[in-house]
Amino acid sequence: MDLDTSHPAISDLRLSARRRMPKFAFEYLDSGTGSEIGVTRNRAALDAVLFMPAILGGTQTADLSRRFMGRDHPLPWGIAPIGMSGMIWPGAEEILARSAVAHGIPYSISSVATRTPEEIGPVAGDLGWFQLYAPADPEVRRDMIRRIGAAGFDKLILTVDVPGESRRERQRRAQVVMPPRLTPKMVLSMLLHPVWTLSMARTGAPRLKFAESYVDPAQLKRDPFVHAGRVIRGYPDWDYLRAVRQEWAGDLLVKGVQRPEDAVRLVEEGVDGIWVSNHSARQFEAGPAAIDRLPLIRSAVGPDVPIVFDSGVEGGLDIMRGLALGADMVFLGRAFHYAVAALGAAGAAHVNHILEADMRANMAQLGAVTLEDLKDCLVKP
Ligand SMILES: Cc1cc2nc3c(=O)[nH]c(=O)nc-3n(C[C@H](O)[C@H](O)[C@H](O)COP(=O)(O)O)c2cc1C
Repeated sequence: MDLDTSHPAISDLRLSARRRMPKFAFEYLDSGTGSEIGVTRNRAALDAVLFMPAILGGTQTADLSRRFMGRDHPLPWGIAPIGMSGMIWPGAEEILARSAVAHGIPYSISSVATRTPEEIGPVAGDLGWFQLYAPADPEVRRDMIRRIGAAGFDKLILTVDVPGESRRERQRRAQVVMPPRLTPKMVLSMLLHPVWTLSMARTGAPRLKFAESYVDPAQLKRDPFVHAGRVIRGYPDWDYLRAVRQEWAGDLLVKGVQRPEDAVRLVEEGVDGIWVSNHSARQFEAGPAAIDRLPLIRSAVGPDVPIVFDSGVEGGLDIMRGLALGADMVFLGRAFHYAVAALGAAGAAHVNHILEADMRANMAQLGAVTLEDLKDCLVKP
């Protein structure tokens, strides 16, 4: 059976991922926070963005290319940073970096991924973006920033929407703990998912390798996760942002922006790109849907500031919604990780196929030929 029949949508990849992953790993990937009303709100708000179909447009071929921050991209989407991606599926970082290069889309690696910048930089080439959680110690920050640049990354994403931990009750119920602890329940779950477990045995237990390199070896032996986790657990403020701006010579994007006034101030502080996101309601469930913030932020910063959008994107139609409402690029985090867990490298390629086919099919319904046409196809309230 071909993948378009077995997995026509990202929701099919999610179901396969759930079957192949131990429960704690799937729950870590899939859950929002609280009662998950924020996840539902993101979905409902995306669904509420409507387009007007057109007739008698003749034969048209959509152009999906996008110029973003000085580079031409054949497709207007990319892969969002996901922490511990090597626990979701062993080797996920390499798989996704390679796939991104093959499709010409950006791959963002998280500072709490299981690989270092030096390992992934050469694989991702100029499509690699690096996401930074703020290290508390300025010396560590400076060295991390130096290493990220030296590894070949020219885009740094500073994530600012984690001002504290979120309770994520669903993850607590599933006993998702960092470091993963070998409880009887977890061992049973691993035995029931032998492909994941054997792949993990081959690649080695997931570790926060980048942060670990700043931990004293004696402490590392005792409790690698706790100590590595502390390295990156800083909560940045505006002064911190200014320091990062001074220390990082490449493009700087700030991720997790929801207020127009923050976006304006970020641009004034010299930030190059705004990443509108509510972390897919993993942090806070009583906030507005991320897609509803996007047009407000676009109109506040004007047409020229690069904007990335994520949070709840599940197909090509959602990408069109983000682009129509003001984003230049739309990123997906969970979709690519469901795909790798479901089908390995073939899964990442299949997500790109689904997104492209879905966008082309839906743009044809609108008679939209370029991405710029999309905003004119919106049904205005
Ligand atoms: C399992 C998981 C881990 C994440 N880890 C990070 C991270 O390390 N850094 C970060 O900036 N965002 C992180 N995010 C947020 C994503 O980058 C993204 O904003 C969010 O998942 C929305 O996209 P999606 O709905 O397509 O998954 C994480 C999200 C998930 C689901």
